[in-house]
Amino acid sequence: MTAKTIIVTGGAGFIGSAVVRHLINDTDHTVVNLDKLTYAGNLESLKEIDQSDRYHFEQVDICDGPEVKRVLDTYQPDIIMHLAAESHVDRSIDGPGEFIHTNVVGTYTLLEQARSFYATLSDDKKAGFKFHHISTDEVYGDLPHPDEVEAGTELPLFTEETSYEPSSPYSASKAASDHLVRAWLRTFKLPTVVTNCSNNYGPYHFPEKLIPLMILNALAGKPLPVYGKGNQIRDWLYVEDHARALVVVATTGAIGETYNIGGHNEKQNIDVVHTICDILDEVKPKAEGSYRDQITSVADRPGHDMRYAIDASKIQKELGWVPQETFESGIKKTVEWYLNNEAWWKAVLDGSYQGERLGQNQ
Ligand SMILES: NC(=O)c1ccc[n+]([C@@H]2O[C@H](COP(=O)([O-])OP(=O)(O)OC[C@H]3O[C@@H](n4cnc5c(N)ncnc54)[C@H](O)[C@@H]3O)[C@@H](O)[C@H]2O)c1
Repeated sequence: MTAKTIIVTGGAGFIGSAVVRHLINDTDHTVVNLDKLTYAGNLESLKEIDQSDRYHFEQVDICDGPEVKRVLDTYQPDIIMHLAAESHVDRSIDGPGEFIHTNVVGTYTLLEQARSFYATLSDDKKAGFKFHHISTDEVYGDLPHPDEVEAGTELPLFTEETSYEPSSPYSASKAASDHLVRAWLRTFKLPTVVTNCSNNYGPYHFPEKLIPLMILNALAGKPLPVYGKGNQIRDWLYVEDHARALVVVATTGAIGETYNIGGHNEKQNIDVVHTICDILDEVKPKAEGSYRDQITSVADRPGHDMRYAIDASKIQKELGWVPQETFESGIKKTVEWYLNNEAWWKAVLDGSYQGERLGQNQ
């Protein structure tokens, strides 16, 4: 494949930084990381590649049309991979406004600038251009939980045809942005593709999210707060598997298509927390007792979805992507990464990069 120029919005975030590292380390493509650097953006996550001459950083807000235009005109991208978003469900409940602004107005602004830029391209360049919108399985709402159905009942999965029924301000804002992207294809013929992925975990994950929060609270001897009974089910995917899937879709996915991405790893939150505790008990035992002793139940999140599970057969069959990590191998790598990368997470926790209140997300 000829080398392309790819703009990655949100490239300093958790998944975006995995995409940027993968593009620089494993491909010949040039990357422009367009990121506002909110509390969730951290350039320390890109230290291993930021000296590459194929890597460029632009601190730009996707809601700032003229600045987005400048970046498009300057770098003349072949592909835009749009990951920039507000992504933390609990924050969206505390303050939905920022989510509507970034996820809806920001995506609209980016689409409009992409549309104007696309109009300036030669037919050749137009044929190769793609706007790849990265979204979540949370737009589909939730699925029946095994506790709610008769034993032996086959449980459904989210497919690309599942209708949208978002529950939280976060998922509603992402659903709105997905609709805008499809409308810009249908109405304005902007070549777009959409992916919807399940919960990610892995290195460089901001410690307000379930897995890093549990690892770091466990190590600090703090309570491990689990919402309600902890029986909510998520379908976990190792972030580097997601990054590979995204690059496959951005470079070979068909225009107008949607691809669901997931790892076939349905786990109850409480089981995820138990697994983390068990790994830590093995690799960094406490003087006395088990890390499981730190688990505490806290009041459930309002509107909490009970189960997410992805049918990823389309991307596997049509584009040949399969995840490389099992949950067991990925979670072990993740715990080890946090044990070996104290400097990264200490700077986040002590606010020396940017201070923020830490909650939890699952
Ligand atoms: N984390 C998951 O499990 C998951 C699963 C499926 C889909 N997604 C989607 O993937 C994308 C990335 O998720 P993440 O977990 O890496 O998010 P994140 O919160 O870790 O990172 C978001 C990034 O976007 C940047 N950003 C925020 N607002 C911006 C703005 N106005 N202009 C420019 N940059 C801005 C932030 O600085 C940050 O670098 C999101 O669109 C999210 O909806 C996430």
